[in-house]
Amino acid sequence: MNKVTVVHGDGIGPEVVGATCAIIKASGAKVEFEEALVGLRAEKEFGTPLPVSVLESIERNKLALKGPTQTPFGGNYRINIERMKDGKESRADYPSIAIALRKELKLFVNVRPIKNYPGVSSRYQNVDLVIFRENSEDLYVGNERMVDENTAEAIKRITRGATERCARYGFEYLKKTGRRKMTIGHKANVMKMTDGLFLKVGQDVAKDFPDIICDSRVIDALCMELVIKPESFDGLLLANLFGDIVSDLAAGLVGGLGVAPGANIGPDCAMFEAVHGTAPDIAGKDIANPMAMILSGVLMLRHIGENDAANRIDAAMTAVLAEKKQVTRDLGGTAGTKGFAEAIIAKL
Ligand code: NAI
Repeated sequence: MNKVTVVHGDGIGPEVVGATCAIIKASGAKVEFEEALVGLRAEKEFGTPLPVSVLESIERNKLALKGPTQTPFGGNYRINIERMKDGKESRADYPSIAIALRKELKLFVNVRPIKNYPGVSSRYQNVDLVIFRENSEDLYVGNERMVDENTAEAIKRITRGATERCARYGFEYLKKTGRRKMTIGHKANVMKMTDGLFLKVGQDVAKDFPDIICDSRVIDALCMELVIKPESFDGLLLANLFGDIVSDLAAGLVGGLGVAPGANIGPDCAMFEAVHGTAPDIAGKDIANPMAMILSGVLMLRHIGENDAANRIDAAMTAVLAEKKQVTRDLGGTAGTKGFAEAIIAKL
């Protein structure tokens, strides 16, 4: 029996995670849930939005299903983590809970499959691509400072090690899943050293995968081409910030943020979360689309070899989507988050 640490998160997090857990339970997957409190409710109860016990729970179970967590814009908000790690005292601070979890758990790549689903209207058909977002560095190292009152600066860090690990995972994934092409997105024409290194390492790794075509695009041109002919892309290898932005753009190609799942993979642990955030504008109203979170749960089930349950959930969801009756309003229906989940459970 696999144990999964379940992090409900903030905003719509408890609604979409609750729906996902109910569906996984109903699927008969051999999975047990261990609840963990993170975010605003944890801050109230424990004085920190990310208690060390949650990291320990994920490290023990090696699996987490995570809802989105809120991060304030601007200011000096930091998540402080002090703990014993590998017999040593470890101290670090991070700009958000999601980043703290990814860094502390060494989740080096964020895998985001983006594809059309029947019944989910979008401007495009035949989109089927996978984004590999480097998850540990770039401008997300959080090394920012005010030089003076009117000037702020941030460090963009790219290393061969982190880029290679992410690229290798991406190419292996494409090979395993029968995909044919990897496109590296970069801005090496301006950031010659940082993005230059990212591009060079990606191209070096590509040499070990002769059956996969490797090409590259300057990030702005990549965005334009994604909007014009998204069906021509297969795998996308991106540094952290570009990966973040292009993921939302790509979600928009297939029906919006409500339908884009994600997997954060590390050497020991894996954490599954939707691309979207806490959606404070619709939180608590039972109208959030749980699809991205459910699909993240499906990715988790496949990761642990529960393929039968994963296939059944995917098929049940696809059937509910195709009928277009009991889906949330962003998909053209009138069902609530719970109603959508119940319709999927009824079809399992
Ligand atoms: P957001 O993704 O929460 O919302 C953007 C828009 O998409 C909103 O109009 C929202 O209503 C809609 N939307 C998002 N998810 C939806 C769903 N499942 N169903 C229907 N509509 C949905 O992005 P925003 O507003 O930039 O961020 C809000 C908060 O979320 C911030 O505090 C941010 O830091 C946090 N966030 C957390 C993430 C994480 O924990 N991994 C990822 C992204 C944002």
